[in-house]
Amino acid sequence: MPLYRKDLLGIADLSAEEINLILDTAETFRDVNQRRIKKVPTLRGKTIINLFFEASTRTRTSFEIAAKRLSADAINISASTSSVVKGETLVDTALNLQAMAPDAIVIRHSSSGAPHQIARLVDAGIINAGDGAHEHPTQALLDALTIRQQKGRITGLKVAIVGDVLHSRVARSNAHLLSKLGAHVSLAGPRTLLPFGLEKHIPPGEGSVAFADSVEDAMSDADVVMMLRIQLERQSGGYFPSLREYSIHYGLNRRRLSLAKHDVCVLHPGPINRGVEIDSDVADGPFSLILDQVSNGVAVRMAVLYLLAGGD
Ligand code: CP
Repeated sequence: MPLYRKDLLGIADLSAEEINLILDTAETFRDVNQRRIKKVPTLRGKTIINLFFEASTRTRTSFEIAAKRLSADAINISASTSSVVKGETLVDTALNLQAMAPDAIVIRHSSSGAPHQIARLVDAGIINAGDGAHEHPTQALLDALTIRQQKGRITGLKVAIVGDVLHSRVARSNAHLLSKLGAHVSLAGPRTLLPFGLEKHIPPGEGSVAFADSVEDAMSDADVVMMLRIQLERQSGGYFPSLREYSIHYGLNRRRLSLAKHDVCVLHPGPINRGVEIDSDVADGPFSLILDQVSNGVAVRMAVLYLLAGGD
């Protein structure tokens, strides 16, 4: 089944079949990434623009590597070195890039909905690399690939997502994706950082999304624990007394992790705040798949570029 889409704007738009198609395609690209020569000619002659209005290490680098491993031409633009600093608008930026005939534009922006606005204006495929607190679809896809590889399935798993859920596009995309694939998502964190009502926007699927009464309840018997970064850049302050108190009450340490299943997987989208939402001995410990997530990010982004920008 091909992916009959021009854009990848969010997980909310995707069916379970489309998600599985992307994950299965990513598995084949994982093999390419393990070869001595990590390059295939699939997207030769295609042009991919990475347009980042917010900082990024993992997403931007892995999209660039993904494009290059598919033999596409990859161009990186960051807002700070573009004509955005001279006052050019997002729409004008996109229209000018479109005039250079790219095949796909990968965009990260601090405003929710920015990629959707651009997608309506340009012929190039638009891939959302994170829009405000809305969605980060390729992060959820690489998380799902990592879980599926480790557990052999997603259906029926209990996944605790803990921390700053309110400002987290990763949590939102994962809530959609994991419930569509049949997992039971338990959200927890400080009450000030929980978007109560979110579950009402998740259509009923095979799985479920619910708020736990406490971090301990969320982690109890969890198959997967996904910790979230505190997004200080999106907070106006006052959500919790101090980072130290946050760590004591909501951080992942070995004691809290012992509440989960004996073969639990620990995930974190990065960048991690060591000693705040996760202790170093857990982040670097035997249950952590944090660097596997990063590796899978390349394969997932290769799959998305392949399926959207010329997987014929
Ligand atoms: N997970 C993630 O989006 O990381 P970056 O901000 O480094 O891209």
